[in-house]
Amino acid sequence: MKKKISYLIKKKNKQKIVSLTAYSKNVASILDKYCDIILVGDSLGSVLYNYKSTREVSLDIMIEHSKSVRMGIKKALMVVDMPYNSYRNSKEALKNAKKIMIKTRCDAVKLEGGKKIYEIIKTLIKNKIPVMGHLGLLPQSDQTFKFKGKKKSERDKILKDALLLERAGVFSIVLECVETSLAKIVTRNIKVPTIGIGASKYCDGQILVFDDLIGLNPINYRFVKKYANLRDQITKAVSNYSKEVRKIKFPNKKNSY
Ligand code: KIV
Repeated sequence: MKKKISYLIKKKNKQKIVSLTAYSKNVASILDKYCDIILVGDSLGSVLYNYKSTREVSLDIMIEHSKSVRMGIKKALMVVDMPYNSYRNSKEALKNAKKIMIKTRCDAVKLEGGKKIYEIIKTLIKNKIPVMGHLGLLPQSDQTFKFKGKKKSERDKILKDALLLERAGVFSIVLECVETSLAKIVTRNIKVPTIGIGASKYCDGQILVFDDLIGLNPINYRFVKKYANLRDQITKAVSNYSKEVRKIKFPNKKNSY
């Protein structure tokens, strides 16, 4: 059965919410059984396209990958990131969010930011487009990639923004690279679930970029745990293949017609 937004909200304080990113059908179809939420994240810009930042990701790229992901999902809630410059004002946001919802048949969209986009989020929700918020480190607008919550002003702003997003009607909020005690405070002070990435165990759920989880990305981030090292496994497989082709061991009789 397909997971509903109300089911997700009810999980708060009961069971952790499991979430991962996916950019294609095959991956999504593996994750579907284990994840409550599958996010088509604009992180695909750096993971797949080697862009310097997620700012280069276009609406069309997001839509094409999301169409692929849609084909792999039966149960999980599918959320699609609205890319940079696709929600500069309410009118633009509504037009583009509708396009994403219709073309990809996703369940919700995710937007980065707090107070600045409060009215925009309210417009989307008023028009029956479910929205996931995103606070803390905001890769679309912040290129420093430093964790948030050291300074009091930063902490106050994140908590205020979380309360505002809740008031605007988001069904959950991603907290990216947020200091542990702040993540705990935000999670305790809002009724909708927080989904952490580099934001401690105190969030209501967790999300990771799938390529990081399986060890395809050679970079090691503090907030990532590699549950497999596919980079090593692929290297071994390709190295064996190349040796066998060169030694005329592959294809053998069994592989031939
Ligand atoms: O783009 C993305 O993958 C994300 C996650 C890191 C939350 O926004």
